[in-house]
Amino acid sequence: MKFKKLNNNEKLPFVSFGVYEIDINDTKNAVLNALKRGYTAIDGAQVYYNEKEVGEAIKESEIPREEIYLTSKNWVSNSGYDKTIKAVNKTLEDLQTDYLDLMLIHQPFGDYYGSYRALQELQKEGTLLSIGVSNFDSVRLIDLVMNFDIVPQVNQVETTPYFQQYEANEFMNKLGVAHQSWGPFSEGLDNLFENPILLEIAEKYEKNTAQVILRWLIDRDIPFACRSVKTERMEKNIDIFDFKLNKKDIEKIKELDTGESPFNDYNDPETPEDFNSEII
Ligand SMILES: NC(=O)c1ccc[n+]([C@@H]2O[C@H](COP(=O)([O-])OP(=O)(O)OC[C@H]3O[C@@H](n4cnc5c(N)ncnc54)[C@H](OP(=O)(O)O)[C@@H]3O)[C@@H](O)[C@H]2O)c1
Repeated sequence: MKFKKLNNNEKLPFVSFGVYEIDINDTKNAVLNALKRGYTAIDGAQVYYNEKEVGEAIKESEIPREEIYLTSKNWVSNSGYDKTIKAVNKTLEDLQTDYLDLMLIHQPFGDYYGSYRALQELQKEGTLLSIGVSNFDSVRLIDLVMNFDIVPQVNQVETTPYFQQYEANEFMNKLGVAHQSWGPFSEGLDNLFENPILLEIAEKYEKNTAQVILRWLIDRDIPFACRSVKTERMEKNIDIFDFKLNKKDIEKIKELDTGESPFNDYNDPETPEDFNSEII
């Protein structure tokens, strides 16, 4: 596995297996299967409602804890100093572990300043090896950086061929915050897997379009969390270390960039309303 070195010298695997929207009844098998296929990192969250099942899979796999990279995310309704401490403890209990490799603030809503204070403390005492945020645009990110001692190790943001995030990437690099991609396939929206530009590149390297998308992220130095519950796709999605895109391919993929998310608009007042109303 290839790793990205974080600003605290910890190493984030380039590939994480995401468990968003995996049914609670399927999660244990999906995670066990992913671990068998060579995934070494699991990207979960409190609001995915399946942390217990992830924990059961890890235990059943009998893989030593230190060989698995575990990420979770603190949800908006658990924001604030006290609630974050409590919620992180519940996550640790559900995952059957006494530390996390990476804990992120899931959304830039609620009392995330209180949450970040809690994460800093939990990191100092060794419960969280790395800490960070998710879905923070450059304005929120710089504000956080200016008001705390610890620069977040990671900012996990939607990054896909439709929403390539070049400007945000440059800003994160400048701050020393590692850019991690979520949802690299945009859940296959608008026939992404059949896109002619991606198909042409895929054919050239004898890969499929999903592999081209994931390799495109690696070649931009962006680790990612991706998901498939299908064994063959799981295997293909991790079989991306024997080829490399060239500058021309990367330029061509730029043509797909719409400059905005097909899912969330962080300038729309409905977005914080929706996220704040999900109480867990
Ligand atoms: N921080 C955040 O706010 C945030 C938000 C969203 C997601 N995430 C993280 O990012 C992870 C990935 O995002 P995501 O789960 O939304 O979606 P995604 O990985 O972009 O796409 C998943 C979809 O693509 C399909 N797929 C996967 N590999 C494929 C292949 N090789 N060929 C064809 N179809 C394929 C899957 O179907 P099958 O399962 O049927 O193969 C599934 O429907 C999440 O699981 C989560 O860990 C974080």
